[in-house]
This record gives sequence, C-alpha cells and structure tokens, in this order.
Amino acid sequence: MEIVEIALEDLNPTAFIQRQVDEISAVVGDGLAINALSGGVDSSTVTVLGHKALGDRLLTYFVENGIMRQNERASVIATFEALGIPVQVLDARQQFFDALKGVTDPEEKREAITQTFYKEVFGRLVKESGARYLLQGTIYTDVEETVAGIKRQHNILSQLGIDTEATYGYTLVEPLIQLRKPAVRKVAHALGLPESIYNRPPFPGPALAARVIGEVTPERVETVRAATAIVEEELAYTGAFQYLAILHEDRVTGMRDGKRAFGQQIEVRCWESEDARTGSPTRLPFDVLERLAERITAIPGVVSVTYNIATKPPSTIEAV
Ligand code: XMP
Repeated sequence: MEIVEIALEDLNPTAFIQRQVDEISAVVGDGLAINALSGGVDSSTVTVLGHKALGDRLLTYFVENGIMRQNERASVIATFEALGIPVQVLDARQQFFDALKGVTDPEEKREAITQTFYKEVFGRLVKESGARYLLQGTIYTDVEETVAGIKRQHNILSQLGIDTEATYGYTLVEPLIQLRKPAVRKVAHALGLPESIYNRPPFPGPALAARVIGEVTPERVETVRAATAIVEEELAYTGAFQYLAILHEDRVTGMRDGKRAFGQQIEVRCWESEDARTGSPTRLPFDVLERLAERITAIPGVVSVTYNIATKPPSTIEAV
C-alpha cells in the first residue's frame, strides 16, 4: 500500500486543513465537484474542506438510500444549514432496494451498494451537473481492510485498480486517505464542526445493510432501524467506540400473548476500540442489558436479544 499514514501525534490540523484546501482547489480548478454527505465524521469533514476550497462549486447531496438511521436526513440537513452549507436530497431508495433484492452474500451486498452509489447515483449526478470530480471521505483504515482482503469497504475503488474516470466518468478526490479516525476527529474539531459530529461513533457506508444478515428488504431494515435507535439511546452513556444492532437471518421459537411466535433475533454489539483495527466488547452492566432486551423485544416480530462477547479479531465490528 503506497499511501503513507499521518499518525495522530504527527498531525498539525491547521496545516493539514490548509494543505487539503489548496490541493482540492488545484485539482478541481474552476470546475464543479460533488460529494455525498451522510452526516458521519468523515463525510462531514470532507464537506467542510470542499466547501472551504470551492464554495458553491461544491454540490453536496444527502443520498436517501432507504438504509440510513432514524431522523438521519433531517438532522444532517439542519446541522449543515447552521454551518451555511446547503445540502440537496437525492431520493434513491428504489434504486438501492432494487439492487439489494435477493442478495444475501455479504460481499455481493457490499458490491451492490458500491455499484448503486458510484455507477447509478453519482454517475447520474455527474452527468447531469457537469461535475468531473467526486470528493469523498475514504480513510486509511478503509483502504487497509480492503487491501488486506478482510472486507471490501464500499468506497474503495482506485486502490483496487478501478479507473473511476474510465468506469464512471469522474475522478475521486480523497483528502482524508492518510488519516485514521482519531486524526479525522481532530481535523473535524479544528474545522469548527459541532461535537455531535466530531465525536460521532463511526457508521459504515453500506449503512444498515451492513447490519442485516441475509436479504435487505425495506421491512427488515425497518426492524434493525428501530433496534439501532434503542441501542444508540441506551448505550450513548458508555462513550464506547461503536455500538450497534444486527438483525439475524435465523428465526427462533418464542412466545407472544401465550402463543408460539417463530420470531427474529437481534444481536447487540458494543465495542471498545482505538481505531477499529481491533476491538473488545464493553463490560455492560446487566441491568443495561436487561433494559435493551425489554425495549428491543417490544419491536414487532423480535423474540430474542443477544450480546456479542467476542473480540475483533476474529469477529469484525459490523456483521456483514
Ligand atoms: P469492520 O466491520 O470491518 O469495520 O470491523 C471497521 C470499521 O469500518 C466501518 N465500516 C465501514 N466504513 N464503508 C465505510 O465507510 C464500509 O463499507 C464499511 N464497513 C465497515 C465499521 O463501522 C467500523 O468502524
């Protein structure tokens, strides 16, 4: 891997920001660039860097792909409106669910999401807007895991030898590619992003599709979305690296209203980690686990709640 990491202790955020703003300006010239803002720390940081460099020549989109968390769209738009950065919404729900229909293999699922984002959604945006550049928040860890063959991160293209200019019609600009998450947080803080963003737990590009084992349908996403909202509410106090809910494919026998219910299972994970390379489960108090079980089994169809106690490795942070 040729990309050289900038370690947290070597990072001078002010100098880094200036260098990236200059670089984006130089690369894009007087043209247009687009970027997709999910509201996570990486894409938020790139949005502010791009906006500093290009002003209204940066077209920022929130892609409504149907697999985001509760209230994500409204809160992202409100946060960036307050920063004076306009965000347009692109409804691509049908395209994503069509691409995910019948797909159960994890890597195929990731590939379906990559193609829908880069070929369908961004490809069309680029064609319609006349932009030739796509700014995105790829970070060092994304490249590392993909190149190591652990997981194909949704946003890795050129590092896999894909010529985006020839394949999709635009060039990628990746200002954060030398940083790991803690360094990105430092840059985000220096850029004046609110704490709700610079301290936000990571969330994967494939969104809730990374947390549904088996087929990703609107109904199954709805179930994991409801569980995610509960887990995020109950575990925010831990300050853990990441906490999430996973919907399993296997069903188990349960009971509801005195009758047999062949129901769904939700797995909760809560990770202690520095930079997602390794992780261990948070030692949650049992009363917290009980509250999670009580609230999550109130979701229609869910009869079982488990807590993952394995470390990464051999587990990974997400399930897909
Ligand atoms: P894993 O599951 O591989 O995750 O242990 C490591 C970190 O990366 C996040 N993640 C992703 N981020 N695109 C992303 O931008 C992806 O495809 C992706 N998959 C996993 C995950 O949430 C964790 O923080």
